[in-house]
Amino acid sequence: MVKSKSMKNEDFKPNFPTEIITEGKAKVVVPKLKAFVKSPSEYAPSKAPVFYNPVMEFNRDLSILAMQAYQRGLDREITVCDPLTAGGVRGIRYALEVKGVRKVCVNDINENAFQLAKHNVALNKLGKRITVRNEDANLFLSKHSAPHKRFDAIDVDPFGSPVPYLDSAIRALRKGGLLALTATDMAPLCGVHPKACIRKYGGKPLRTEYCHELAIRLLAGCLASVAAKRDIGINVVFSHRLEHYVRLYATISYGAKAGDESIKQMGYILHCFKCFHREPAEGFFNIGQSLACRECNSKLSVAGPLWLGRIFDKQFVEVMEQETGRRVLSNGERTGKILSLIENETEAPITYYVVDKICDVLRLPVPSVKNVIEGLREDGYSACLTHFNSRGIRSNAPAAEICKVVRRTADSH
Ligand SMILES: C[S@@+](CC[C@H](N)C(=O)[O-])C[C@H]1O[C@@H](n2cnc3c(N)ncnc32)[C@H](O)[C@@H]1O
Ligand SMILES: [Zn+2]
Repeated sequence: MVKSKSMKNEDFKPNFPTEIITEGKAKVVVPKLKAFVKSPSEYAPSKAPVFYNPVMEFNRDLSILAMQAYQRGLDREITVCDPLTAGGVRGIRYALEVKGVRKVCVNDINENAFQLAKHNVALNKLGKRITVRNEDANLFLSKHSAPHKRFDAIDVDPFGSPVPYLDSAIRALRKGGLLALTATDMAPLCGVHPKACIRKYGGKPLRTEYCHELAIRLLAGCLASVAAKRDIGINVVFSHRLEHYVRLYATISYGAKAGDESIKQMGYILHCFKCFHREPAEGFFNIGQSLACRECNSKLSVAGPLWLGRIFDKQFVEVMEQETGRRVLSNGERTGKILSLIENETEAPITYYVVDKICDVLRLPVPSVKNVIEGLREDGYSACLTHFNSRGIRSNAPAAEICKVVRRTADSH
């Protein structure tokens, strides 16, 4: 229900323990998490009457940088929507920290969250630039689907999967708009619950050592198919995996041709659990390749359909890096590190190898990742680290070569 505009923000007296915190440039009232858990093992953010997770500050820092990179690319004022806002911190930070943000609309179905978000907007003196609503996110986004009501950017940050909001978010995005998605349902996406992944994302996951990359590709693939139904194409500009979630940023382009182009970037990843070989099979409806591993003749396992296109845009990541240098972030060092890792892997081959996994199967002592990378380069292959896994390597070397170099490096220690 949309609440009366006459209700003053000072009227809000939370009936649960709160505290004031500073995150980025925002000063916000949040639930006092300690008051809602009986033991340290309990997950406090979801026990409180309004969701707040301090661990996600880093996620929000990266969101600020991505939004700024997007705005810089457009070079005009933008409007941003945070349809699952909880206490409003994300939307408030967009308004305070991203240059060129003219207007932000935040929304949450939870009455307590709505009240708290209104209070926080007033606390940050943003009443003129941020509107706060109390509706179901799909209803709220649908009300913004008419051409002149659409947003430049929408940040879908739900509990679990963003899939229930994809269609309405796409409809509420302007031509060329940016969609940011968080998915925390890693058990389906990483193949622990494959049926749930097939049901929600329309693609089969695989429990491989690079399952987090597959998670992003399954999410992007799902977005591409939902968008294509409306003659809209997607272009993934940035993505990352951290802690318990993956995050994806994609811009959209209107037109059947754009939709066809993104469907062309769908396909499968075939994986050999015996010898580590993997290969892409392009085409939504076509696993053209034989399902026998060309290296060891074992049966290949299939992930997909999923997004085989790029999952980072080098230029976009470079602008994010420049933006990091322009501001003081409490996670500044960590931000610089992850962006530099991602920048290095933007144009590297798909999927990565995990040195420890190879050593485990080959029963080898574990060498340093740096030495394996050097060994691969000495042999004439490309090799780089990946932000997905601190023990991971992206390389154009065949799996057998990777195993050979891992063995050689392990033996030399
Ligand atoms: C993970 S929290 C959002 C966290 C927030 N974006 C942040 O960065 O702090 C998800 C929020 O979605 C809200 N929510 C759940 N279902 C909803 C729906 N159908 N419509 C609108 N809000 C919803 C919940 O009340 C909760 O506040
Ligand atoms: Zn094989």
